Amino acid sequence: MKPDPQRALQSYRDHADGYDASCRRTQPLRIDAVKALRLQHGDTVLDVASGTGMSFALIQDRIGPTGHLIAVELCPEMMSHARNKVESAGWKNVTLIESTIEEASLIHSIDAILCFYTHDVMRSEAGLNKIFEHAKPQARIAVAGLKLFPWWLAPLNIYARAKARPYATTLEGLDQPWSLLAKHIPKLDLSSTQFGMGYLASGRYPG
Ligand SMILES: C[S@@+](CC[C@H](N)C(=O)[O-])C[C@H]1O[C@@H](n2cnc3c(N)ncnc32)[C@H](O)[C@@H]1O
Repeated sequence: MKPDPQRALQSYRDHADGYDASCRRTQPLRIDAVKALRLQHGDTVLDVASGTGMSFALIQDRIGPTGHLIAVELCPEMMSHARNKVESAGWKNVTLIESTIEEASLIHSIDAILCFYTHDVMRSEAGLNKIFEHAKPQARIAVAGLKLFPWWLAPLNIYARAKARPYATTLEGLDQPWSLLAKHIPKLDLSSTQFGMGYLASGRYPG
């Protein structure tokens, strides 16, 4: 089954107010994902399916006021929380784009791309094509999220699927969520997290 942005919109409308509290446990992985981007002052970063902006402060700390953060998110209710974070921090270098990534109008050249818990985007060829149309050669990418346990722990995948279901409209590809990404990033560094139920993939776009 393919990702369904309309269903994602409906589901995240309901999740938006409780989202930040629900994902606190993933904060160590979020920190590792942002670190893997090796950001520098002045970088332009694309936060794909940015949700409520939980990664914004970590990115801002690294890119500084001369950098540029572009956040694409389809759900207005999630984006509204992100907008509040931008306004209360007083960041002037953020562009919020309320759209699916597939349909987003991106005009900037991107130095670094973050996809944190964005399984639907990882399974969208059109979404990935859009991201890399705007990536500079050697742009860095970090992707993290849930995945299935390896086959010898298959019974535990009932639990893994149940954990993933509220956050994604398809569980297709949950065994190797990075498989479509690997067509764009041939040398992916992969590590397993959360006792095998999570992953962090990072690499450079060859251009
Ligand atoms: C699990 S949340 C992750 C949010 C955020 N990346 C974070 O770090 O917390 C997944 C988000 O992806 C968004 N989303 C799903 N499909 C999308 C698409 N095709 N384009 C843009 N956003 C999408 C959902 O609305 C939701 O906010």
